[in-house]
Amino acid sequence: MHLIGTPSAERLFRGAPGMPVPAGAFTMETAPDGRHRVGAPGGRAGMEERVAERPTIGIFGAGKVGTALARLLVDAGYEVALTGSPRQTALELLVSVVAPGARVADGDRLAADSDVIVVAVPFGKAPTVPWSAFDGKVVVDATNYWPPVDGHIPDVDADERTTSEIHAALNPAARVVKSLNHLGYHDMEDDPMPSGSPLRRAIAVVGDDADARAAVARIIDDLGFDPVDGGVLANGRALEPGHPAFGRELSARELARLLEAERAVAA
Ligand SMILES: NC(=O)c1ccc[n+]([C@@H]2O[C@H](COP(=O)([O-])OP(=O)(O)OC[C@H]3O[C@@H](n4cnc5c(N)ncnc54)[C@H](OP(=O)(O)O)[C@@H]3O)[C@@H](O)[C@H]2O)c1
Repeated sequence: MHLIGTPSAERLFRGAPGMPVPAGAFTMETAPDGRHRVGAPGGRAGMEERVAERPTIGIFGAGKVGTALARLLVDAGYEVALTGSPRQTALELLVSVVAPGARVADGDRLAADSDVIVVAVPFGKAPTVPWSAFDGKVVVDATNYWPPVDGHIPDVDADERTTSEIHAALNPAARVVKSLNHLGYHDMEDDPMPSGSPLRRAIAVVGDDADARAAVARIIDDLGFDPVDGGVLANGRALEPGHPAFGRELSARELARLLEAERAVAA
């Protein structure tokens, strides 16, 4: 698996100059032809093989984010399936119009057939997603706790964990990665750029499973953004509403710096 990048891409991927590489950061090797290769920490054998073929992506939520991601992923050559809420009628028609090339599947089928699952439902509805069916799957938690939409949820307000840690606890066998949550869906649609573009935006990847982070990083690069490895899931606070990275269009260098600064404050 190769990523195309500039000579500076390796540095940006790992973090800003002079800053330590986060523990567990995935590696990026430069091939003789100048292309880059993302791997698991320490270049663990097997990673490249696992992500060499494009994973099938299943998206829970056929709303603004779900359909925008479906369009981007289909354009990037991925096989994509969506499942909507039980309230949504004529979903096949909707998807054929707004995300042509993606297909509709029921939740159980989607979970079984997808290599990577994206949860893109309102935060308050996240428990209605079949987490118990996600054993071993890479699960991208794109949700945000957003009281204007979700109302105030006292248990969440009182919980010191990041919201993705709360979700990960719903199935400890799922390989949960927090990502694709901190840019607006319209920014994700409007701003993809080829690797190496000086104005390319960054999207962070945090999660406790480094292979899962690397797999999601590859997808982000394919979508047209620079992936930035933020380390473990608990580091995801910086990506949540009201925190520094949320809603901001940042370069990889800026985002890596900001994540590092947040970690320093939390330590
Ligand atoms: N909007 C953004 O720019 C943006 C960017 C990044 C992340 N996010 C986050 O991504 C999530 C989705 O945002 P959105 O703007 O796409 O919301 P949205 O437009 O309301 O779409 C969410 C969709 O998920 C459906 N849904 C609810 N429960 C479901 C289930 N169990 N299975 C499948 N679908 C289900 C909802 O249906 P019902 O209406 O019937 O509940 C709705 O159609 C939110 O957590 C949000 O904070 C949003």
